[in-house]
Amino acid sequence: MSTTDFTDDLAADHSATLAELDTPALCLDLDRFERNLQTVVNLCRERGVDWRPHAKCHKSQDVGSRLVAAGALGLTCAKLGEAEVMADAGIRDLLIANMIVGPKKVARLVELRRVADPIVCVDSLDQAGPISAAMHAAGLRCRVIIEVDIGLHRVGVAPEKTVEFAATLSALPCIQFAGIMGYEGHLLTIADPDEKRAKIGEALKLLTDTADAIRAAGLSCDIVSCGGTGSIAFCTAQPGITEVQAGGAIFMDDFYRLTCQVDFLEQALTVHATVVSRPAPDRAVIDAGRKTINGEIRMPSVQSPAGLTVKSLSAEHGALEVPEGMELNVGDRVVLVPGYGDLTTVLHNRFVVHRGEQIVGSWPLQARGRLH
Ligand SMILES: Cc1ncc(COP(=O)(O)O)c(C=O)c1O
Repeated sequence: MSTTDFTDDLAADHSATLAELDTPALCLDLDRFERNLQTVVNLCRERGVDWRPHAKCHKSQDVGSRLVAAGALGLTCAKLGEAEVMADAGIRDLLIANMIVGPKKVARLVELRRVADPIVCVDSLDQAGPISAAMHAAGLRCRVIIEVDIGLHRVGVAPEKTVEFAATLSALPCIQFAGIMGYEGHLLTIADPDEKRAKIGEALKLLTDTADAIRAAGLSCDIVSCGGTGSIAFCTAQPGITEVQAGGAIFMDDFYRLTCQVDFLEQALTVHATVVSRPAPDRAVIDAGRKTINGEIRMPSVQSPAGLTVKSLSAEHGALEVPEGMELNVGDRVVLVPGYGDLTTVLHNRFVVHRGEQIVGSWPLQARGRLH
């Protein structure tokens, strides 16, 4: 049996500059990333809300630790497995914005509670009951928040039923009711900015009114959490919101920039590819197909050389349209911006981190594949 370790190819790649880097590669511009981070930290500070950025896109301890060091309250995670990875990096304040169901996961949550202070999202006693029982058996308590359905119609309790559910949760012995969350994900792509502001305002008011109703019933409701990158300008300005979950803001992509019209953050994430074939004057083929850069929510765009368009992605090939007269040869480098970063980062083991042309690091996505 072979003893060669193929999992760490990039760590063994001693390329010093992007030009030398073998492709395809997921690249992170550290200067832009740091500026994005500071922009969001400042925005949240000015508006008096906490920032709990979602880790579902970066899935990296290096990124997560930098976000917390820069001022994030903690992290939001999509999965228990992500939260375990972030806790392993010493991050304690972790919101798992998802339901934890089944004895194996509940047992892992108990272990996570020993080393961190997670908050688990619930919308039913069927999730909260087993968590309370397992925490009780372990002599622990765990924070829980209720997801309220503010129009996304994914999971969540109806606003008018939330006060009663909050009272039920508060009566469980080993649950600490910590607040509520909602996600306005169905409103991110409204083209007219005034309509977008108004609709997001209405949806988030459902959430903040629900928090007020919980408090009026004599319960505390410390956390009122919402917010994505596509709505960051609006959710941070909404009175009554205590924290926002926007995560993709640190990287940006064309979905946020063009579809959601978020224009004050920089594109920090790219995929570097190489032209491997020039089968026709108007067509070039690169070594990055949909197993390298996902085109589902939005097709990638070409950052450089300017003028190229991604026409199609098959599994391992990307077909580009080449304008007439443009010189583009086999071996040339093409830099792409993901259409939607979330579905692209998960295809890679590492971020190649660079300042300008200089490669300065290689950050693994430790939570990649931790879907459970
Ligand atoms: C629960 C939740 N919060 C926040 C977000 C926003 O994340 P991002 O800012 O990375 O788009 C999402 C996106 O799917 C989400 O599901």
